[in-house]
Amino acid sequence: MPLVAPEACEVFVSRPMPEQPFAELVARFAVALGPVERPTSADELVAGCRGARAVVAMLTDRIDAAFLEQCPRLEVVSNFAVGVNNIDLDACRARNLWVCNTPEVLTEATADLSLALILACARRLPGAEAELRAGGWNGWRPLHAIGLPYRRLGIVGLGRIGAAVARRALAFGMELRHFSPNREAGAALGIEWLPLEALLGWADVVSLHCPLTEATRHLIDGARLAQMRRGAILVNTARGPVVDEAALAEALERGQLGAAGLDVFEDEPRVHPRLLGAPNALLVPHIGSATREARTAMGQLAASAVVDVLEGRAPRHAVVRPR
Ligand code: GLV
Ligand code: GLV
Repeated sequence: MPLVAPEACEVFVSRPMPEQPFAELVARFAVALGPVERPTSADELVAGCRGARAVVAMLTDRIDAAFLEQCPRLEVVSNFAVGVNNIDLDACRARNLWVCNTPEVLTEATADLSLALILACARRLPGAEAELRAGGWNGWRPLHAIGLPYRRLGIVGLGRIGAAVARRALAFGMELRHFSPNREAGAALGIEWLPLEALLGWADVVSLHCPLTEATRHLIDGARLAQMRRGAILVNTARGPVVDEAALAEALERGQLGAAGLDVFEDEPRVHPRLLGAPNALLVPHIGSATREARTAMGQLAASAVVDVLEGRAPRHAVVRPR
C-alpha cells in the first residue's frame, strides 16, 4: 500500500525508520509518516494520531495526557527507544493503552559507545587529535598527553546496559563497583554495591546507566559532582537530565572533573553553551544505539509491537498493558 495522508492513517510513524520493518507495517496497514528532516511537531503528532490506532513514537515525541485526549482511537504507543521518559505512563494507563519499547537489541551498541567515551576521555583523544591536526605536535616526548586514571569504574544503574558495560570493563582489567536500586544486581559479575556518595568518592570514572525518572532527575548535581574524585571522568549515555549540566560545566571549568563524555543532553538538540566551551568535554549527538544492527532490530521490535496489538496479540515488550 502507498502511504496515506496523516488524517487517514491507522498507524502513524513519527520519523523515517529502518526500511524493512517499516515496509512490513505499510504492507499491512494504512500508514502515514512524519517529517523526514526534523522532529515531528506536537501539532503534526496530533494530526497523525487523531484517528490512528497505533503510533510508532520517537524519544523526541512527548506523549502526555493532553496529546492522548486528542487521539481517542489509539491502542498502542510503540516507542522506538528503550527509554520511555518521553511518555506519561500514568496517562497511558488511565486510557488503557499498550506502551511498548525496544530493550535488549540496543544494549551492546550502547555499551560499546560508553566504553568508547570512557577510553577517549581517559586517553584525551579529542585534545590530542586536535593538537596534531593544528600542527602543534613536535614529536614524541615522555610527558606528552598523559591520560587520566581510569582503573576504577563506578556504574550507576546496573541494568542490561550497565551490565554490558561492566563485562567490557572487566575484560579491560578495570575494578568495578555499582550503585543501583537492586543491591544484588552485581552478584553474578562479582561487583560490589556501594552507596552513591561512596561510589562517587571511589571511582576514577563514573558511567551512568539509569533510566530518567523523577527519582533520577539531576541525580548528579553540583553536590554529587563535588563528591567525585578530583580529576575523575563522568560518562553519560543514559539521559541528559540525570545530570545538572550547568553544574557539570562548572566542575569541568574548575578542573574538579578531569573530563566528561556525553551522548545525551538536558534539552536536546540544544547543548548547554558552557558545555560547548568546556575544556575536556567530549560531546556526541545521542548516537548510543546508532549501529545498523541495533536500529534495524529496534525497528523490528517497534513494528511488531504495532502488528501484535492491532491483530489482537500481546506484544513482546510491554511497559504498560491495558487492564
Ligand atoms: C535511546 O536513547 C533509547 O532510549 O533507545
Ligand atoms: C536498558 O535496556 C537497561 O536495562 O539498561
